[in-house]
Amino acid sequence: MRIDIITVLPEMIEGFFSCSIMARAQKKGLAEIKIHNLRDYTLDKHKRVDDYPYGGCAGMVMQIEPIDRCISSLKSERDYDEVIFTTPDGEQFDQKMANTLSLAGNLIILCGHFKGIDYRIREHLITKEISIGDYVLTGGELAAAVMADAIVRIIPGVISDEQSALSDSFQDNLLAPPVYTRPAVYKGWKVPDVLLSGHERNIRDWELQQSLERTRLLRPDLLNE
Ligand code: ADE
Repeated sequence: MRIDIITVLPEMIEGFFSCSIMARAQKKGLAEIKIHNLRDYTLDKHKRVDDYPYGGCAGMVMQIEPIDRCISSLKSERDYDEVIFTTPDGEQFDQKMANTLSLAGNLIILCGHFKGIDYRIREHLITKEISIGDYVLTGGELAAAVMADAIVRIIPGVISDEQSALSDSFQDNLLAPPVYTRPAVYKGWKVPDVLLSGHERNIRDWELQQSLERTRLLRPDLLNE
């Protein structure tokens, strides 16, 4: 899959995508993540991407021309499944949405900034508006990184043990069970006996019980979905 991220602050997320699992996914050819500097799509010498809002309110608004130029240029090279805009008033991002988007071939993510973007962009160029939570960030870059991470990590082959992505919290609407590693006893704090028993069936039963209990306790809303 390919994700094209359009931003005025490429340096804010470039590092993120060149580390760890995101870098490995790209090296393995399982995901291609391209970051585009919106200022490269301006025509004036100041590389301006924002302007004062009509109507005289405070703050700056992202202009339509560079964004349309960038999106059109990408679309002229390939088809896109979605053109996503990151915004706090968008649809709430969750695991289900990550699962669906991970099946896409090509995605564009436009990072919002300043006071907002010219509404015509949202009306005519964007196909999906997504929020990562009910709080306001200074820009959409972190939201784009969060979304791309959640989408890419579940592409088969990205995480070496495919099972570990499938057993994440929120897949099946259940929180993941606790996990432990060596030593079996630390400062007197013991790993549950069942995990040391080698009894596969008892271990799976225990994990399911733990998942149900943790979900009931911490996220009962998930059990009613
Ligand atoms: N931009 C600013 N805040 C955001 C949020 N919560 N989700 C997505 N994009 C944003």
